[in-house]
Amino acid sequence: MYNLLKGKRGIIFGALDENSIAWKTAERVHEEGGTFVLTNAPASIRMGTIDKLALKTNAQIIPADATSVSDLEHLVDEAVQILGGKIDFVLHSIGMSVNVRKGNHYTNENYEFTEKGWNVSALSFHKVMQVLYKKEAMNEWGSIVALSYMAAQRVFPDYNDMADNKAYLESIARSFGYFFGKNKKVRVNTISQSPTATKAGHGVKGFDDFIAYSDKMSPLGNATALDCANYTVTLFSDLTKKVTLQNLYNDGGFSNMGVSQEILDHFKE
Ligand SMILES: NC(=O)c1ccc[n+]([C@@H]2O[C@H](COP(=O)([O-])OP(=O)(O)OC[C@H]3O[C@@H](n4cnc5c(N)ncnc54)[C@H](O)[C@@H]3O)[C@@H](O)[C@H]2O)c1
Repeated sequence: MYNLLKGKRGIIFGALDENSIAWKTAERVHEEGGTFVLTNAPASIRMGTIDKLALKTNAQIIPADATSVSDLEHLVDEAVQILGGKIDFVLHSIGMSVNVRKGNHYTNENYEFTEKGWNVSALSFHKVMQVLYKKEAMNEWGSIVALSYMAAQRVFPDYNDMADNKAYLESIARSFGYFFGKNKKVRVNTISQSPTATKAGHGVKGFDDFIAYSDKMSPLGNATALDCANYTVTLFSDLTKKVTLQNLYNDGGFSNMGVSQEILDHFKE
């Protein structure tokens, strides 16, 4: 361990169970000396096992639906009070598509479901940042990270409306990141992560085949949740102060591949 986050305070959204990317991130941030509050939607807190993580990382849990501005305002006020000062790092690790859950094909969206998924998965990132911005709750040289997927740039048919949500999320990171950088010296980035075996990941149709394909396409293999946590720690640390407005691939090289020998071998007669 490197003590990279000693003295830093943060908010971590989205730890549901021990497979969650946010869970691994909370563990790694704790090991690196950071302190934080954990948050999730009230229903997810009841369903999941976040209490275990809170105990392990000496963190308090503040419930908040990330689509509710009043919940977010309460969360930020509480976090600053509990942690004893302004915030240095925030992880937005939130995603959900009702169309995916209900098995609606991309060409047959229910637009009420689409709006709900967009609000949870994309607009919530704007809401989180707007609350932090208006409350002047971030310290200078703080760092905000959200998690994305490459379906924002390329076609993955079964990723459904989450592809559009991720494109919107990445755009918010750039647009809000400009104002956060210019006016508050805070950086904003997204990490585009390999497919990862979590509750949200398994929601995607054909996930098991796809994760195996992705692993064979990537020269370094898929990045795990722990790999993502480690990368996020570097983005929260003072070693990446001038990295902002970026969508950063943590994917074992997948995003720059055309085809790999292992995939070609599958098609040999
Ligand atoms: N698993 C993958 O393959 C993969 C790949 C790339 C990016 N991501 C992204 O990583 C992030 C974390 O997902 P994960 O894979 O760890 O799965 P996960 O299911 O463990 O986490 C998703 C979280 O979103 C939370 N959430 C849903 N609705 C919410 C709301 N209204 N308010 C607050 N929180 C809410 C859930 O409670 C859950 O904790 C998501 O943005 C996801 O799209 C996942």
